[in-house]
Amino acid sequence: MATRGRRGRARPRGRGSSLAPGPDAVINRRRWDRASASYHRRCAAALGGRHAESWGLWRVPEARLRLLGPVRDRRVLELGCGAARWTESLARRGAQAIGLDQSARQLAHARPAPGRRRYGLLLANAEAIPLRDRTVDLVFCDWGAMTFADPARTVPEVSRVLRPGGRFVFATSNPIRWIAFDERIDGFGRTLRRAYFDVARLELPRAPIEFSRTYADWIALFRAHGLSVERLVETRPVVGARSRYVSARDQRWAERWPLESIWVLHRDAPRQAPGRARLTRPVRAGSRRGRSRPG
Ligand SMILES: C[S@@+](CC[C@H](N)C(=O)[O-])C[C@H]1O[C@@H](n2cnc3c(N)ncnc32)[C@H](O)[C@@H]1O
Repeated sequence: MATRGRRGRARPRGRGSSLAPGPDAVINRRRWDRASASYHRRCAAALGGRHAESWGLWRVPEARLRLLGPVRDRRVLELGCGAARWTESLARRGAQAIGLDQSARQLAHARPAPGRRRYGLLLANAEAIPLRDRTVDLVFCDWGAMTFADPARTVPEVSRVLRPGGRFVFATSNPIRWIAFDERIDGFGRTLRRAYFDVARLELPRAPIEFSRTYADWIALFRAHGLSVERLVETRPVVGARSRYVSARDQRWAERWPLESIWVLHRDAPRQAPGRARLTRPVRAGSRRGRSRPG
């Protein structure tokens, strides 16, 4: 049995995606391969150890935000895992964890240390996830593929692999961030520099291409693929907080306007076809349930 994939291509049902990655994904794979060594030199301390299960630019602990829900014995997929510190930590908590990344250089940092709890690693593009339909309980990422791949391609893929009721949590850029980005100062200013309605694709010289959406467009995309919003966190650093990813000037900006969003969604149960909907059984006249009470 085959289902029609996007762009009309047939794919075998339940075998994982056979979609070709978009052109930007190919550019980003090269850019992440090239940036990998310096990224890990700069960020290893912020990503591992006690920060392994922490969110975003200010490494807010999952233990405080509690966005993922239970993970023990759940099948969990990290999209754009890099060195897979999150994946590794969730595996230690009993999850059947898989880290996916399309950059071989990034994944080279992710090999499990000898004697550590094992987890799966997939060299693959989040726009074409090589897992079967409805086989994952939780998909998440922390400034991973949901920032650097086209949501028009990743959101349908996440929806496809999630089981009904499954959760999807991701931290990424807030759309406000990009409308205030000023290339002349390489940071965030107080004037609007870009149209809010033009935040879908953002490319700066040599940096990986980023993707975003207006709030209305995110929600429309989620709803179109059976995903409901449970919660939206806009992280606000406390005055004086330090981040390895944010300069002191941008930190002051972020104390007043949102730099990042963390979306928490769940996969709706598929709607039953109207003809197959279970109707309440009619009550036959004369049966015990249907008998009218004596007046
Ligand atoms: C900022 S790093 C974040 C990784 C991890 N969360 C961390 O903090 O180390 C972004 C990661 O997303 C990966 N990535 C970007 N686009 C991707 C795509 N289309 N499919 C899979 N991975 C992708 C990159 O290769 C990179 O490893």
